Amino acid sequence: MTTSIGIELNPPARLLMGAGPANVSPRVLRAMTAPLLGYLDPDFVKIMDDVAVMLRQVFGTKEGFTFPVSGTGSAGMEAGLANLLEPGDTAVVLEGGFFGERLAEIAGRLGATVISVKGQWGAPADLDQVRKAVKAQPKVKLIAAVHAETSTGVLQPLKELGQLAREHDALLLVDTVTSLGANHVDVDAVGIDYTFSATQKCIGAPPGLAPCALSPRAMEAIAKRTTKPYTWYLDIGLLRRYWEGGQRVYHHTAPMSMVYALHEALRMAFEEGLENRYARHRRNGRALRTGLEALGLKLLVPESSCLYQITAVHIPAGIDDMAFRTALLRQYNVEIGGGLGQFRGKVWRIGLMGESSTAANALYLLSAFEALLPRHGFEAPAGAGVAAASRALAAEK
Ligand SMILES: Cc1ncc(COP(=O)(O)O)c(C=O)c1O
Repeated sequence: MTTSIGIELNPPARLLMGAGPANVSPRVLRAMTAPLLGYLDPDFVKIMDDVAVMLRQVFGTKEGFTFPVSGTGSAGMEAGLANLLEPGDTAVVLEGGFFGERLAEIAGRLGATVISVKGQWGAPADLDQVRKAVKAQPKVKLIAAVHAETSTGVLQPLKELGQLAREHDALLLVDTVTSLGANHVDVDAVGIDYTFSATQKCIGAPPGLAPCALSPRAMEAIAKRTTKPYTWYLDIGLLRRYWEGGQRVYHHTAPMSMVYALHEALRMAFEEGLENRYARHRRNGRALRTGLEALGLKLLVPESSCLYQITAVHIPAGIDDMAFRTALLRQYNVEIGGGLGQFRGKVWRIGLMGESSTAANALYLLSAFEALLPRHGFEAPAGAGVAAASRALAAEK
């Protein structure tokens, strides 16, 4: 057998405007090259504590326990479900998209009785339907929802879910993978008991960590479990002894370069100001939406329930999805997302997340669409997208 020494590592600097990862600031990438420290080095513990404090601020919780799970967003999802549910518990899951379905799938694998509230993809959940589903059960342990459904671009309002969970003494678990950094999450105000996010979307770091927050109620529920969580690696009781308190106990080797990246990304978010950051996502997303509509494209989600960091747009009849996205990638160096699940081949998902959310990126994407759409069989009015988006941006100044 001949030995391969591998290919030269030379990935192109792509403009990432899909469903994540988004582009990352050079400052964050530079932080990842800082010297490694031991997993219990006092200087590393200081950085861990600082990350936990900044996470409390971005999640909007004073009392909660915050830390990043070592793993991507799905690890944060699995950690929450595996620690809060025991076999035989009932979970009501809002399934209005691909990631709602993932929540239900994991809860089912854990041996929970899953009551799915299947909503229409592209709309928030019908609260009456959720209320009915909860009331119909003798005891609901957990209500689970996705705040920002990346597969459709829908924002799920949370306030009523928090109230419903309290009324029925249920825990509320929320996926904030795509919302954290672009929308208010407000863990304490809403009454969220467990939430998880991911570093690669609107927070502005590479993929690899799942920032989480737990309420005191969630910690109490974990302490009262009658069985150990099936997972040792994602056992939050054990992880807490590593991430909190005076006497730290080794659990696993923290990916410190990723912790540095998250630290720097959070610092950048606070330097910008959270409100300014949310406004930036809104402004650029709104301009993109305006421009796409001016090109004659149909948006999936009306403005009343849309996310500005990810916009789903119907693929016009006759356009070959893969051929179009390949042309964008090869000729314009831009990645956009395809559809997931039932939307595969039916929608494109355009992200303006974190570092990628700039007016220049929105305008560049629109100009690329203006050039490419006619070549792929869709007559878009020349110049209309960029002009409309520019006007929308100017109006917001
Ligand atoms: C809403 C949502 N939840 C969960 C995930 C899973 O995160 P990851 O791919 O980082 O495991 C994603 C990923 O795109 C997501 O968008």
